Amino acid sequence: MSLEFKAATTALYNATSSQVTSTAQSGSMSWLYTTAAIVGGLLALEQAVWRYKKRHLPGDTWAIPIIGRFADSTKPTMENYKRQWDSGPLSAVSVFNIFIVMASSNEYSRKILNSPMYAEPALVHSGKLVIGSDNWVFLTGKDHVDYRKVLNLLFTRKALGIYLGLQETVARKHMTRWLKEAAADPSAKPIMMTARHMNMETSLRVFCGYHIPDSAVEEINSKYWFITQSLELVNFPIPLPGTKVYKAIQARKLVMHWLELAAKKSKIAMAEGGQSECMLDEWVSIMAEPGYKGRKDFSDYEMAQVVFSFLFASQDAMSSGLIYGFQHLADNPEILAKVRKEQERVRMGNYEDPITLEQMDDMVYLQAVVKESMRVKPPVTMVPYKCKKPFPISENYTVPAGSMVIPSFYNSLHDSEVYPNPEAFYPERWLDQRGSANSNPKNYLVFGSGPHKCIGLEYAQMNIALVLATAVTMMNFQHEATPLSEKVEIIATIFPKDGCHLKLSPRTHA
Ligand code: HEM
Repeated sequence: MSLEFKAATTALYNATSSQVTSTAQSGSMSWLYTTAAIVGGLLALEQAVWRYKKRHLPGDTWAIPIIGRFADSTKPTMENYKRQWDSGPLSAVSVFNIFIVMASSNEYSRKILNSPMYAEPALVHSGKLVIGSDNWVFLTGKDHVDYRKVLNLLFTRKALGIYLGLQETVARKHMTRWLKEAAADPSAKPIMMTARHMNMETSLRVFCGYHIPDSAVEEINSKYWFITQSLELVNFPIPLPGTKVYKAIQARKLVMHWLELAAKKSKIAMAEGGQSECMLDEWVSIMAEPGYKGRKDFSDYEMAQVVFSFLFASQDAMSSGLIYGFQHLADNPEILAKVRKEQERVRMGNYEDPITLEQMDDMVYLQAVVKESMRVKPPVTMVPYKCKKPFPISENYTVPAGSMVIPSFYNSLHDSEVYPNPEAFYPERWLDQRGSANSNPKNYLVFGSGPHKCIGLEYAQMNIALVLATAVTMMNFQHEATPLSEKVEIIATIFPKDGCHLKLSPRTHA
């Protein structure tokens, strides 16, 4: 090959290869530009949609791209919620492009709860996976109303009278054990898990009586915490083995196994002429009454699902109410003394005799304590609802269809016009029938309002009162306050961050 030819081919090669490189470079640059343009467009669209939906509502001027306020929702705090509520009666927030309207005034909160045409309850994402999407709680409209009509029969005064004995037996059993443990180690300990345990046994005994063995009560109690954890606002959405939601689903299957068995046993016991001793028995016997006109063909599975929904709705809320009940009483010795004085009057010093419903009715001060404790620290501070269609919530704002709307209960319960000095624990405010607390029942949103208002509210209040009545007569309890006692932990419901450290000792009656 001549030198000239070699030089020429090398030059040709260099020229071609630099052309290829520059074509490839310009190709990848244009991909980069296209991708950047698409991403930029989407981000701009995201901001435009945010602004369009939010309109004049208080909220971030620019939504944090893609994740929105995701970081806040992983570690919810009362301080953050309060900041949001204080920004206006309606305010907007975005989490992973879910547009959320928070309502803080009593008027707007009640409007959401009482507008089933526009909004319905929406659980956190994991809710349907954990409870089971065929559970009755997901019914809406007439189907929901009809189903609830039957379930209301499980909370009549007659039924509550049956449950009272079971509640007291469980409370005494647990407090006797607590005192035994305190005798061995008298130091103050958090009551968070011990109170939850007692509450689980109370619920299972009230709902299923002795159709469920002790061993199953223990097993359910040990697994139920997975279900509580799965209700955290933010959870890994796909139930892969090892995730909280997966463990919660396994726990539900275990609970459902025992509940179905209990329903079957209850039907057999009642068919054999047994006495009604728990909620399932009461349900079976109501369906067998000659005058009963409602639905009768509830399968074991359906009954178990109803009981599971009650367990689900009550375990965390009731535990929260109980724990703050203890904390409020222990922190206010003069109020505790009044509760004890009332016990002495109503029970005439016969603390070993079972408490009757009539006696519970007579414990007016204790009822005020329970009401006030849940006002100051509402177990459920808010409930998420979802808009089925555009919801004209105010004269100048319509919540877009598909958005979440979250009514706050906290603000209604801390409204200083209705409850002067709202942070103070002051049961006396409930004793004056014409006082502002009793004259404004619409503010007392502890149990919600409207078609989904808590079905177990009377039973819940009675149980907290019963447990506190048992505790104040059986035990002395001293709160060992820590820097975290007044801090609030939010796990669907609220708890004192330190779990409420109590020092217990037996109480002797002269
Ligand atoms: C201190 C204890 C409790 C509190 C604070 C509480 C609070 C609530 C709240 C705020 C709601 C939502 C209301 C709404 O959307 O308007 C609710 C619903 C519900 N609660 Fe409770 N609850 C408690 C105990 C119980 C108990 C003991 C049971 C059952 C025995 C129960 C069963 C239910 C059910 C089934 C629902 C859904 C009702 C429906 O969708 O129709 N709750 N509760």
